[in-house]
Parts: sequence; C-alpha cells; structure tokens
Amino acid sequence: MNAYSIIEKKRDAQTLSDEEVRWFVTELTQGHIKDYQASAFLMAAFINDLSPSETSALTKAMIESGRRLSFDEPNVVDKHSTGGIGDKTSFITGPIAAACGVKVPMVAGRGLGHTGGTVDKAESIPGFKTALTLENFRSLVEKNNIVLMGQTDDFAPVDKTLYALRDVTATINSIPLITASIMSKKLAEGIRGLVIDLKFGSGAFMKTVPDARRLALSMIELGRSYDLPIMAFLTNMNWPLGESVGNSLEVIECIETLKGQGPKDLEEISVELASGMIVLAGLADSRLQGKQMAQKALESGAALKKFEQLVKSQGGHPDIVSRPSLLSVARETHSIKAQEDGYIESFENDKIGRLLVDLGGGRKTKEEQIDPSVGFKFAKKPGDFVKAQETILTVFHHDSQKDLVESLEKRFFREIVEMSQSKPTLDPLILDVLGDRT
Ligand code: URA
Repeated sequence: MNAYSIIEKKRDAQTLSDEEVRWFVTELTQGHIKDYQASAFLMAAFINDLSPSETSALTKAMIESGRRLSFDEPNVVDKHSTGGIGDKTSFITGPIAAACGVKVPMVAGRGLGHTGGTVDKAESIPGFKTALTLENFRSLVEKNNIVLMGQTDDFAPVDKTLYALRDVTATINSIPLITASIMSKKLAEGIRGLVIDLKFGSGAFMKTVPDARRLALSMIELGRSYDLPIMAFLTNMNWPLGESVGNSLEVIECIETLKGQGPKDLEEISVELASGMIVLAGLADSRLQGKQMAQKALESGAALKKFEQLVKSQGGHPDIVSRPSLLSVARETHSIKAQEDGYIESFENDKIGRLLVDLGGGRKTKEEQIDPSVGFKFAKKPGDFVKAQETILTVFHHDSQKDLVESLEKRFFREIVEMSQSKPTLDPLILDVLGDRT
C-alpha cells in the first residue's frame, strides 16, 4: 500500500477498504505521510464523501492511533459542539454538569474555519494550560469532576493533525470527516454518554436542518455501534450565541453567565445541554428533572465554583472569577451603527466568524498565533428592531487596525446584515432533540 494509490482511489470516488484506511491513519500517526498528502486525501474525501463503512473505519483507526481512557463509573459524560460563532457553552455547561455530580472529561479543539475553539478560548485565561498528560487529565476529572484539554501527541493525535489541516484547506463541512473527528475524540475519552450540540444555520458547518439531522444521525449510529448513548440537540446558529464573539470577550461572558448576569439565550442553551448530560449520567430520570438540577447549580453559585476550580487546577489565574478584567481585551472600540430604521432580518453568520479571523482572532495558517483580545459585542441580533444610528455591534480592536475596521464595517453592511421593514420569523433556539434518552 502507499499514500499515492489511496489518494488516487478516493480521488476517483472508489470505496477504500478498512485495511487501506487503517494503513493511511497508522502511517500518518508515525509521521510517514506529509501534510500535503493528508490534505489531498481530505479534499478527495470531502468531494467524494466517505461511505458509512469508511467513516467507521476512519473513526476506529483514529481512536487506535492514540491512547484511550476508560472509567468504571457510569456518570462520565461529555458535551461536544459541532462549532459556531460565539459558541462558548463548554465553560458553562461543563461546570453546571460537574456541580451536579457528572464527571466531565472534555477534550476540545482549537478554532476551526470560521468557528471559534474551546482550547483557544481557555488559553485566553492567563496561565491556563490545555496541554495535559493523560494521567493528569484522569486525576483532575476524578478529583474535580471536570477537566479540559486539547488533542495531544498521544491522545487523538490523528485528529490533532487532520483538524489543523482541515482548518486551513476548506475541508471542514463534511459529515463523515466531522463524525470521525468528534467521535474518535469522544470514544477515546472513555465516556459513558455524550451530548452533542448540533448547530444548524449560516454560522454552522451544517447550513440546513436536513444536513444537521444527517450529521446527528451519523454520530448517533456510530455511537450505538460502540454502546455509547448520544443525545443531540439541534440548535440555531443563524446568529452568534450570546453577545460576544472573540476569545477573551467570550470567556468574560461565560463568567457573567455563571454569575446569573449573562445573555438569556446562552444561559438557556447551557442549561438544556447540561440537563442532557445529567440524564445520560443517570443522575436524573428526565430532562425536566435534569434542567431543575442544572438551574439550581447555576443559581446557587455551585457551577461558578466549579469553573473557578477548573481554572485554578489547570494553572489559570486564581482571581479570574472576581476580576474578569485580567483577561486581555483590546482597548480601542468602534461602534457599527444602523444606517436606517428597521428589523434585522438575518446575519450571514459564518462571515462574522471570518471577520474575527481577519481581525486576528482566528487562524489563516496552522502555524499562526491568534490574538485573544480582539472581537465583537452584539447589541442587536436578527428579530430586533433598530433605529438609525443605534449600535448593532461594537468592535474591539487595536489602534493599528483602524483601516481594517473601516473595511470590516463596509463588509458588514455589504455582505452580512439584511434589514427588513417587517419582523422576521425566526427558527427557535433549540429546534429538536434526537437520539437516546431524550
Ligand atoms: N468539532 C470537532 O471536534 N471536529 C469537527 O470536525 C467539527 C467540530
């Protein structure tokens, strides 16, 4: 076998055997396949799709490419999002679930395409370490009920490589590649249940609800073949979640939400997702009961304490909860104001993510460092009425970026926002819940 013939076969839309998929992944793990060959394979898989058997073989090989954890306790449950703009629920949902007795071993990723990444957001907290040994990871989840790390060279190593390449080669929004990426990480965590926040809409990788359902079912089916119950929430990503977009700004918003002072949509989704985790952990009989437990953990401050414990245990600044201003936020601000009265009809939400990348808050090449301090704060979103000259959003930027901000403002009106004279009908925040124990 060789990389060339496998790429060629996929390029010609033929089905790869389990052995060929395993060989490719093993060689990739050992560093024998170059980035350009892996990228060509990804593009061929993206264009010609992978069959269910190829997806399953890819996931299995990716799991086996690294070390795996296993837990004896039944209450080890994680949550994973398929990615979006301002999508920051891990820092709220995880601590809520952990405060309710769920063990939450979160393995997350960096920014992907136009979407932000939990690992990048966590690293905007001064001192926070996301590179942990597996032993450290396990002992923190045993001790605190919650831990957060990125893929490492020995845990989900192939996802680490492919994820970084997909980020910069326009090969992200593929149902098989997303399935294998998420499921290989989650199955290697040794969890006993998984909640998926499956985003649909203009800021998601799945733009339509039918595609989002297809992705959910692909993961639910794969989970079943490993006896892993999955609950998938189909949630609306036609506009940013919460008000903030940008790494530090989003962490600050999470702290506010954990204090009960955050945006209501963010709180609602976080509580719903946590309720699913509580049910899958066997700690509640229904989502309603799980939701009551989650709400109580939020209102009592127990979830905030869990967040604080997570931060301190991973080297983050111990005063971050009482002094969120310790997070670095760009000093200059510019308000983008409505040009006319009217309702905001829609946002091209993925382009908001692209604006953040252009501002430095996301990557264009896999080696690039991101700037956690830049971002946006939205005062208005689709469905809201605005008067001319009212602020729609504020840009947080550096003094040296004034020209760039001017061009972003032009792009915002030309490509992103659509206004209307009548109130638009919008999809709900949570459209459906699929899978096990719903
Ligand atoms: N999250 C992941 O971990 N992988 C993907 O491919 C998309 C979202």
